[in-house]
Amino acid sequence: MKITVVGAGAVGASCAEYIAIKNFASEVVLLDIKQGYAEGKAMDLMQCASLNGFDTKITGSTNDYAKTADSHICVITSGIPRKPGMTREELIGINAGIVKTVSENLVKYSPETVLIVVSNPMDTMTYLAHQVTGLPKNRIIGMGGALDSARFKYRLAEALEAPISDVDGMVIGGHSDVGMVPLISHATRNSIKASEFISQERLEQVKNDTKVGGATLTKLLGTSAWYAPGAAVSGLVQAIACDQKKIFPCSVLLDGEYGLKDLCIGVPVILGTNGIEKIIQIELSEADKIHLETSAEGVKKTNGLLDM
Ligand code: 2OP
Repeated sequence: MKITVVGAGAVGASCAEYIAIKNFASEVVLLDIKQGYAEGKAMDLMQCASLNGFDTKITGSTNDYAKTADSHICVITSGIPRKPGMTREELIGINAGIVKTVSENLVKYSPETVLIVVSNPMDTMTYLAHQVTGLPKNRIIGMGGALDSARFKYRLAEALEAPISDVDGMVIGGHSDVGMVPLISHATRNSIKASEFISQERLEQVKNDTKVGGATLTKLLGTSAWYAPGAAVSGLVQAIACDQKKIFPCSVLLDGEYGLKDLCIGVPVILGTNGIEKIIQIELSEADKIHLETSAEGVKKTNGLLDM
């Protein structure tokens, strides 16, 4: 199983490291445009192999897409991260051109690949990948909801004073500070509704903290987060590579599901060897339906900034 990760920055290198440590891939190619950078990160990561007990072969390449040929899964993390106070949408001017070029180069050498887009503004970058590659819609996936759901579970566990392993929750909608839809009515503590343990007011606080989870970290770190984003996308890669049929909220192209069309936005999907095996339509509260529709309007507005 060959995986390519484009962008050897913090998110891409973390993703490569988590994939290697999970030891399900034979090869990970880390590619970056900066001379020697991916080669250095790959070598450093390979020097962890005996320490972390993995056999995955990680190699680096400076912008030579021939080295990525016949990848089963390609992850796009390249582009600039946001600075404190910025929205993800403000990155579109620079990142759209990068994602367009990277997507085209990847599919040229791996026409059968499943493409996972991480670069922001992620929902719009995922939509752009559809426009420029023409891959079947089950083979283009945007990673945002898996990360946002991990942050939601973190905040839920904090509020419930429960171990994370006892908590479940999902975030759908756009991967944006205002467009995210943490499904608090679906949140559980070991199959019991979270609302049985904490007040609606406290759940609203959890929801709001989740929505600004990325911005909170960017303010603390001076740049976007990388550990949880890297871990989240490595989970999608593993689900596809190992045909796990696991459900994740992913940004996928909708054609009428949830009453939405012609945009990529976060909804629950089953991931397996074919990429998106199935889009799951769950019952939403009236409030969450409205939140999702409003979120979709925001994503479409950002899509409109693309001069494809
Ligand atoms: C985040 O929320 C980078 O969009 C990513 O941290």
